[in-house]
Amino acid sequence: MLKGRSIICPDDLSIEEIDDLFLLANDIIINKESYKESCNGYILATLFFESSTRTRLSFEAAMHKLGGDVVGFSDFNSSSVAKGESITDTVRTVECYSDLIVLRHPKEGAPILASNVLDIPLINAGDGAHYHPTQTLTDLYTIYNYKKKIDNLVIGICGDLKFGRTVHSLIKVLCKYKNISFVFISPDKLRLPDYIIKVLDKEGIKYIETDNLDNMKDLDVLYMTRVQKERFFNEEDYIKLKDKFIINNEVLKSAKEDLIIMHPLPRNNEISSEVDLDKRAVYFKQAKYGLYIRMALILKLLGIK
Ligand code: NCD
Repeated sequence: MLKGRSIICPDDLSIEEIDDLFLLANDIIINKESYKESCNGYILATLFFESSTRTRLSFEAAMHKLGGDVVGFSDFNSSSVAKGESITDTVRTVECYSDLIVLRHPKEGAPILASNVLDIPLINAGDGAHYHPTQTLTDLYTIYNYKKKIDNLVIGICGDLKFGRTVHSLIKVLCKYKNISFVFISPDKLRLPDYIIKVLDKEGIKYIETDNLDNMKDLDVLYMTRVQKERFFNEEDYIKLKDKFIINNEVLKSAKEDLIIMHPLPRNNEISSEVDLDKRAVYFKQAKYGLYIRMALILKLLGIK
């Protein structure tokens, strides 16, 4: 039962629970009309201490489409946080006015700290370079829709593997599926952190780490990410690394016909706009799937049938 639970880490959900969310999202897509009053009388709060387009707007749109209401802020300078209020006092207050909180925060661990003082569910919408579990649900739901399965796939993940929270979350969950192997493509300075490597090793997952795109032909999924400028200590390092990998039509010549090219977005230069016309580019569809899977998650956490 997901009712009343907070979603902080990618593995807060079992594979069975993720499958149930997929089924519900499928039904929402087919029977949109029948969900439009499901959340009448419920309020979702979105507290964003970092910038966002897709995550915040898709959560808010999801709640509106379910007939619920939304409160919150996307610029914390307009909240009492600017007056020095702690995160725990802020969420305790917001709990008085809402049924479910979605929190994005630059500090890793802020969502768990916040959820510990709450009686209502809290969803981590990204904490620093750590995790972003609902992007992972979006990513998995996209793979499931295109590949009809999430087993036996070769998944390339390219870009900023050090600071990319979507990457860390996605890998943790993919490790639970059968016969997944990874190709991790990044500059040496942006390789995966040790705690993710440890998970891979513990689970006995096959992976290679490389600094080139030579393995393109082997991939079933290519998950591109932007270099996370906001996590760098100095601009010079960022500039040196930001355009190391660029996917364009030329690079894709050797790729499989049924490859899917994903990106959590926003993109910078890592996917050329010419690729948008390639049928293998699914990143905008991925953003759309994020809406339906978040609708499903809201319903489950609120325990609405
Ligand atoms: C990602 C994030 O915020 O981590 N964006 C998103 O939620 N779709 C990826 C990123 O910012 O690069």
